[in-house]
Amino acid sequence: LKHFLTIEGLSRGLLVEILDRAEGFLGVTQQAVKKVPLCRGKVIANLFFETSTRTRTTFELAAKRLSADVLNLNISTSATAKGETLLDTLRNLEAMQVDMFVVRHASSGAAHFIAAHAAPHVSVINAGDGRYSHPTQGMLDMFTIRRHKGGFADLRVAIVGDILHSRVARSQILALNTLGAAEVRVIGPRTLIPAFAEEALGVRVFHDLLEGIRDVDVVIMLRLQRERMTNALLPSEHEYFQLYGLTEERLGVAHPEAIVMHPGPINRGVEIESQVADGPRSVILEQVTNGIAIRMAVMSMCIGTQNIALQADGKTDG
Ligand code: CP
Repeated sequence: LKHFLTIEGLSRGLLVEILDRAEGFLGVTQQAVKKVPLCRGKVIANLFFETSTRTRTTFELAAKRLSADVLNLNISTSATAKGETLLDTLRNLEAMQVDMFVVRHASSGAAHFIAAHAAPHVSVINAGDGRYSHPTQGMLDMFTIRRHKGGFADLRVAIVGDILHSRVARSQILALNTLGAAEVRVIGPRTLIPAFAEEALGVRVFHDLLEGIRDVDVVIMLRLQRERMTNALLPSEHEYFQLYGLTEERLGVAHPEAIVMHPGPINRGVEIESQVADGPRSVILEQVTNGIAIRMAVMSMCIGTQNIALQADGKTDG
């Protein structure tokens, strides 16, 4: 694996390899001081042109657990604010011997652009580009599902909310279909579901929440991506919660052992009530923890020595 830009086109075997490798790293993420030396001597630069809490910090933690050196470029105080082009910024970071760029950008295709122009030895990981792709989020969600449900066969998954603007939904759908989920449903108002979603994405479309989540094993809630909407698309929060907000009562129509997921940030009282977000079926904070293991897996597959036997033996360093 050279870059990790999208789940589109990746084989089931490769996705399973990432999940298996992350399983080996989970123990490392839960020990405060232990590290593995897979990326020792490597330099990883976090380039976040859009805001982030979970993704940026878990990439940083993952890189540190792999013993890499981490640069967090503060875009607002970097020379891009003085008119330096993105490519000139990259060339300068490459001159500092950076081995990997982790990129988040508001424009779809930004990570592909950087990968196409990066020096041959540099790997690029997409940490979310526009509405297109957020592949490590998709994989940490698959990891969380597999840990709770054991696999993907026979699994019914519902993704609820603003599918139109969601790079997370796109990555989840690609991963679920590649991994063989029995049924992927998307649920939301007509204005927030892409045209021809059934054919284009390989999902079943519902506009009624209760119909859509009936008997499903996994309910994934998404926030309204207001920053990508025009006013015409923006529903009122109150009206949206009345129609699509997940409450304890509504969750009652899902499978009795259904889990509730959300990539964050959550908007309480808009797409999900606190009782559900903080309730026993919520695995939302587990998703965040699992993000460290998945990001360790992907980064080590791109630039690590791939000495996974070290984890298998339980030997750690640090
Ligand atoms: N899920 C996610 O991408 O969260 P952040 O925007 O906080 O990184």
